[in-house]
Amino acid sequence: PQDDVAAPTGHEFVVVSNRLPVDRVTDENGNVTWRTSPGGLVTAMEPVVRDLGCVWVGWPGSIDEHIEPFTVGGTELLPVSLDATEFAEYYEGFSNDTIWPLYHDVISPPGYHREWWDRYVSVNQRFADAAASVAAQGATVWVHDYQLQLVPGMLRELRPDLVIAFFLHIPWPSHGLFGQLPWRRKVLQGLLGADVIGFQRVADAANFRSAVRRFVGAPSNGNMIVLSERPATRGRKRLPARRVLAQEFPISIDAEAFAELAASESVRLRARQIREELGNPEKIILGVDRLDYTKGIRHRLKAFSELLRDGEVKAGDVTLVQVASPSRERVEAYQHLRDEIEVTVGRINGDYGTIAHSPVVYLHRGYPREEMAALYLAADVLAVTALRDGMNLVAKEYAACRSDEQGVLVLSEFAGAADELRRALLVNPHDIDGMKAAFMEALRMSETEQRQRMRAMRRVIFRADVARWSEDFLRSVEAAAEHRRQTGGD
Ligand code: ADP
Ligand code: G6P
Repeated sequence: PQDDVAAPTGHEFVVVSNRLPVDRVTDENGNVTWRTSPGGLVTAMEPVVRDLGCVWVGWPGSIDEHIEPFTVGGTELLPVSLDATEFAEYYEGFSNDTIWPLYHDVISPPGYHREWWDRYVSVNQRFADAAASVAAQGATVWVHDYQLQLVPGMLRELRPDLVIAFFLHIPWPSHGLFGQLPWRRKVLQGLLGADVIGFQRVADAANFRSAVRRFVGAPSNGNMIVLSERPATRGRKRLPARRVLAQEFPISIDAEAFAELAASESVRLRARQIREELGNPEKIILGVDRLDYTKGIRHRLKAFSELLRDGEVKAGDVTLVQVASPSRERVEAYQHLRDEIEVTVGRINGDYGTIAHSPVVYLHRGYPREEMAALYLAADVLAVTALRDGMNLVAKEYAACRSDEQGVLVLSEFAGAADELRRALLVNPHDIDGMKAAFMEALRMSETEQRQRMRAMRRVIFRADVARWSEDFLRSVEAAAEHRRQTGGD
């Protein structure tokens, strides 16, 4: 509705993502509070947006509520509201039950429903209208993630003066899988409205360019996709020939901020308390994930339970702490996953626990960042066993917090972070024996080897932090804008 669009005007820089950095939560008594939104996109973008001083357009996490623009920590937020049908069909449906599983290599079968697609189109249009209404002439609009893939194309139709950038936080699948999508051409054309499209990994960008070649017929020259002119037709303007950069820009975290947090006396004290509260096991293995089938939590539990079964580890000696934050709870695949995980945790604790010790401590909730940092400090091993993950910021947060250069990262090859964190113990989560061996190697690793590996990983993360990521990305966006100014788009 038009109400969403009434807001501050004339911003030189606009960020658009499905979620705003804060979620509006109403409790049973009708009290309204705001809390940090879940997920890696917000973790990464929050410090970037703070530095850019721009307006952020997004959904405030509530249903059927119109919320006026407001400011949080110096950032102007422009809420786009969703009604119950839009939430069900655009967010839970097309975004999280079609695109999410499809782009994560069909770990769960994607649903293809025409009503979901129609709603995806109309909600994307609403976001595009909202962004266009607050962008100054020639402004840069930076659109994020899989929920809003049509926004770049819509913005270009509305506002050819804008510089449009897009970043995909999740993987891009091979063209064989992407080709399943009945609306594949429309999605590609939507994205190609951007001047620059950023991906997490080299392979994601290559897969995208190959899909564009195959389904749109546009060739690329290196990372540059070459689009020919679109002649004017009835109702549609002529679009000049132009170039679109499709390249990898691996995202990161504000490493310094995590390091500072972890260095604070209260967090260090809390880390010691956590170990005590767990009964001072010799080793703690930690998992931190949204409760999502892409994260390989089941595979991790299987490997751990077999180690208990084989007598390689004992309850009381080793504790696996699994923090799983609630996510997309009305989507069926997530409900099944939760049931499966909770049954498995119950079974492991029943089979291998003692009166004093449960081998798995399972926590189904979100925590403040201080508590996360304390958990990272308390953990001897962090297990990231994703079956597919765009980047996985948890892996980077763990290393950023470990200024003591201790702790072992067990990291799936299928997480984007594996391209950079080569000194982690890299695992294939489908190979349960391989994962068991990696856990044992991690549990037995000498302090010296931990130090060597952790030091190398920290060097990467502190050098390539999120500020560097946004600088690199925005430098490419600026170069694309300059090229367009000089060539008039052709
Ligand atoms: P994704 O974006 O798929 O959720 P990432 O690992 O990239 O995965 O990012 C997850 C972010 O959410 C990290 O910043 C992590 O610290 C945070 N997070 C995950 N689980 C929890 C939790 N239970 N409580 C608080 N923060 C969490
Ligand atoms: C991942 C996605 C984000 C999403 C987040 C949380 O990080 O890349 O776009 O916001 O998960 O998921 P949710 O569905 O709760 O927004």
